[in-house]
Amino acid sequence: MRTVNSLKELRTMLRSYRQQDKTIGLVPTMGNLHEGHISLVRKAAEAADIVVTSIFVNPMQFGAGEDLDSYPRTLAEDQNKLAEAGNTLVFAPSVQEIYPEGLVNQTKVVVPDVSEGHCGASRPGHFEGVATVVTMLLNMVQPDIAVFGEKDFQQLAVIRKLARDLMLPVEIISAPTIREDDGLAKSSRNGYLSEEERAIAPVVYRTLCDIADQLSGGQSDFRALEEQARSALADAGLRPDYFNIVSSATLRPATADDKELTLLVAAFLGTTRLIDNLSITR
Ligand code: PAJ
Repeated sequence: MRTVNSLKELRTMLRSYRQQDKTIGLVPTMGNLHEGHISLVRKAAEAADIVVTSIFVNPMQFGAGEDLDSYPRTLAEDQNKLAEAGNTLVFAPSVQEIYPEGLVNQTKVVVPDVSEGHCGASRPGHFEGVATVVTMLLNMVQPDIAVFGEKDFQQLAVIRKLARDLMLPVEIISAPTIREDDGLAKSSRNGYLSEEERAIAPVVYRTLCDIADQLSGGQSDFRALEEQARSALADAGLRPDYFNIVSSATLRPATADDKELTLLVAAFLGTTRLIDNLSITR
């Protein structure tokens, strides 16, 4: 497995794969890889001959006061995990390589509607940063397929929409959320949790399951269920940012006619922001 840092080296490598008629899969990440990321790499390896994993902590998607500086950077460990998982090439560019003129004059990709509620409302500019860097990565690598996790449900919807709207010649593939044994969704940010917080964190998934059970059992007062979920999170010591029951297709508030529902949650545990989601069919 090779690692390249520049666009020039990336293009050289990609050219040789294409000359050999290899299909290319891309897995964009911010590094500090765990089993969730690795599952995407394995999925990409099933769907394409060559897997390129990008590792780039994208400053454009972090807001002021967020964890850009403290975000864990563990390239050597990441490389070992990727090599084991059958990854072909790591693209680990510097900020200078991606944003040579800085962020101020950067052209932005803005995805309306699906970007707007939930995390988009709590983290202004976040999805512009995600949509822009993902578009750039798709243009740099020009993969046949790209794999993203359902863990970031709204992000996945934003990326599907931008690929469709901009006619990007790539198939977007999604992969299910990988969890710890106690249900906590794996996340690079789980490393920020103290021992005490780590013991509380599974409440997020338990609350999702509890509300999903009530929906499956015929309860349909969505707004009351959202309120109940926020109370359960608060009672456990979390600070709920949002708990929204939405139509899986549109991410708009669920209505009585919706059959495919997704429960979206974000909550702070101390200073750590955890997100998770669960989809059900009624
Ligand atoms: P990052 O948080 O590193 O996640 C990279 C990919 O791994 C995303 O597609 C995310 O949904 C997926 N992922 C994270 N945790 C997962 C889990 N527990 N199970 C399954 N998949 C999981 O998401 C980003 O980086 C960035 O926003 C990025 C798309 C790379 C753009 O900068």
